[in-house]
Amino acid sequence: MSEASPSKGEGVKRSLSGIKSTGAPHLGNYLGMIRPAIDLQEQYEAYYFVADYHALTTVHDAAKMRQSTYDVTSTFLAFGLDPERAAFFRQSDVPEVTELAWMLSCMTSMGLLERAHAYKAAKDRGEGGSVNHGLFAYPVLMAADILIYDSHIVPVGKDQIQHIEMTRDMAQRFNHIFGETFVIPEASVREEVMVIPGLDGRKMSKSYDNTITPLVSKKKLKKQLMQIVTDSTPLEDPKDPDTCNVFSLYKLFSTEEEQAEMAERYRAGGYGYGHAKLALFEKVNEHVEPFRERYMEISGDHDYLEEVLREGARKARAKAREVLGRAREACGFHPSPVV
Ligand code: ADP
Ligand code: TRP
Repeated sequence: MSEASPSKGEGVKRSLSGIKSTGAPHLGNYLGMIRPAIDLQEQYEAYYFVADYHALTTVHDAAKMRQSTYDVTSTFLAFGLDPERAAFFRQSDVPEVTELAWMLSCMTSMGLLERAHAYKAAKDRGEGGSVNHGLFAYPVLMAADILIYDSHIVPVGKDQIQHIEMTRDMAQRFNHIFGETFVIPEASVREEVMVIPGLDGRKMSKSYDNTITPLVSKKKLKKQLMQIVTDSTPLEDPKDPDTCNVFSLYKLFSTEEEQAEMAERYRAGGYGYGHAKLALFEKVNEHVEPFRERYMEISGDHDYLEEVLREGARKARAKAREVLGRAREACGFHPSPVV
């Protein structure tokens, strides 16, 4: 339940999420965020975007930024995002969000931001002084992203929960100082896909170079899955499914009976990791096949992708202006800038 006040679009509930344009989305992004977000478009008014302002904290290459934006957009569309129903847009096409970020910055302590995981990790590596200000202020822009659409729920993977907590803090503080202005959002995290393991068993992440990109050709998909790291137990020996990366991924794509069957084979011995990888490949491939076809059709059609992004930005911007006006007025500015 949101703690929204009546002026914020009663009845309609909004779902919002973003993903950075830092490369092609991987299986962790898909299971942790993209699939849940797309499923929510049925019951919620959905706002999903390519977080290119956030990507700019690390991507300083215009061609890569553009290409990744298209990769993310075509991935969402291929997996079933319906652009008629949901607004799908580029964060940087709604520059109002940076204005709201400034307003939130003025009521957010440095202490809060110093506790953010990404900054803390950089500081622990001794890089605290050299990270850019965008990275330090990352949670404030993310709060603005969420609050500017009166979002009720935010489908994300586990690593983003802290950011949503910070968003709630900022919204509550603003509401306390200036009166009810923002909807207080909730994170929506699916238990079974909280942290998808990568090829090496660590969390699948672009930064660890251990990703599986699902919408590649069948051949490439197979090649990636064959690279999953396993221990060196000989083929004939019994194996423990519960400590095996292949099995953890297999569980995400199979029924309980299929899982029980594979677990049995592991424990019986005479079943190699290569066999398990092939079984996993069959399952993942079966799952992505229909989406892959659509992906191949649209990923190179930049005119179509631009059209979707433009229409999404138009819808998103109208909502953003409404909420920004409310926030401007609350803190004593004119609701919209005087020209
Ligand atoms: P990366 O760690 O590869 O840079 P992002 O930070 O762009 O991924 O994540 C985009 C979305 O995907 C976020 O909601 C994040 O929580 C989710 N996500 C990323 N990696 C995983 C994972 N391994 N398991 C579950 N969700 C993930
Ligand atoms: N920080 C998110 C990530 O790294 C991306 C993001 C930016 C986001 N703004 C957002 C996610 C707003 C949810 C809501 O994955």
